[in-house]
Amino acid sequence: MNRPGWHPHLWHPFTQVATADPPLRVVRGEGALLELDDGRRLIDGISSWWVTLHGHGEPAIAEAIARQARTLEQVGFSDFRHPAAEGLSERLAACSGLERLFFSDNGSTAVEVALKIAWQWWHNRGEPRRQLIAFEGAYHGDTFGAMAVGERCVFSAAFEPLLFAVARAPWPATWWGDDGVEAREAAALERLEQLLETPTAAVILEPLVQGAGGMALVRETFLQRVEALVRASGALLIADEVMTGFGRSGHLFACGRAGLQPDLMALSKGLTGGFLPMGATLAREALYEGFVGTDPALTLYHGHSYTANPLGCAAALASLALLERQPHRHQTMEARHRPHLEGLARHPLVRRPRLLGSIAAFELPTDHPGYLNPIGRRLQKQSLERGVFLRPLGQVVYLLPPLCIDDAQLARCFAVIAEALDTL
Ligand SMILES: Cc1ncc(COP(=O)(O)O)c(C=O)c1O
Repeated sequence: MNRPGWHPHLWHPFTQVATADPPLRVVRGEGALLELDDGRRLIDGISSWWVTLHGHGEPAIAEAIARQARTLEQVGFSDFRHPAAEGLSERLAACSGLERLFFSDNGSTAVEVALKIAWQWWHNRGEPRRQLIAFEGAYHGDTFGAMAVGERCVFSAAFEPLLFAVARAPWPATWWGDDGVEAREAAALERLEQLLETPTAAVILEPLVQGAGGMALVRETFLQRVEALVRASGALLIADEVMTGFGRSGHLFACGRAGLQPDLMALSKGLTGGFLPMGATLAREALYEGFVGTDPALTLYHGHSYTANPLGCAAALASLALLERQPHRHQTMEARHRPHLEGLARHPLVRRPRLLGSIAAFELPTDHPGYLNPIGRRLQKQSLERGVFLRPLGQVVYLLPPLCIDDAQLARCFAVIAEALDTL
């Protein structure tokens, strides 16, 4: 059935056609702006689902991809290696402290691979550990393993019987002016310590901020105490930096900002500057060594047709070079947001304001918090009419703009949010 405004052959993600507005038709992206087919220009306030790192159409990345496409566009990665993958693995090892890089295609698969490495590493040692621990409210992607470690919610409800069991600890999210955080952290740590009494293969977390779970920030000191408990138990620590990686936290990695040294790290989104789909799982050398031996069963039998796609690697190298050349752009986003968020925090409808790197967030008042709460959608509509694209998570409204956003555009985003709030 064809519906007005909808393409007859496309199926959109996370979209209920019966109730959603038809998607906007975008024809071009430049810097912080998206251009629609009717000529309207929108500020991309959420970096196109957190992937567009520097800006749309960033010339240095576009050129790197074109150059690579003319040289080597694709090759199977079991029998071959190539300079772009080598270069990227060396750069990421140097800046993460994790020596081995396993490629996949997106954030969900980067998480899947991390889970598989952790699980099989214990298996290969002949000491299988049967428990995985994740945090309440977590989101790690939409493939089955990633869904299983994520919070059970409307996204995964239909698949519940297919998802493996995961032990779960509370996530003591905090915000400006929160005076209950210490008690919540203590309860979360106590629960985690109890869970870790069962031999645990790995603990997975989104360092410093749960993204899709509602831009839920925790304190660095909390994560340091989590890491200490995990270390004491011998479990592996997996950091899902799919959203937080590549400067979004104000540091290259949120783990760096929080002082964590995980055993495994899942990367995607900003990895290629937002140009090409690619996932990367970084691992400590000792984990890699656990898969080496003459017994074929020790092998990590996982791979994708496009593993280590050279175009993705070239884009990622160009993106990293930009981050290294212009570190002030990600390092100053938090300070640029702050005065605007402080102003907005005085609005009577703004609850729980919080800020981390390029992520500025707050909540709208509601008795029914959650992804399906329509209040954020109403603010989204109002903002769109004023030229700013946002995509609230239920009652959680956030800005996460590309690093190229200029001062006038950033001020416009906050002004539009304030105007939209006045209409609610
Ligand atoms: C922390 C985190 N992990 C994993 C994913 C899944 O990434 P992808 O959508 O690329 O599969 C996301 C996506 O939003 C994410 O925020």
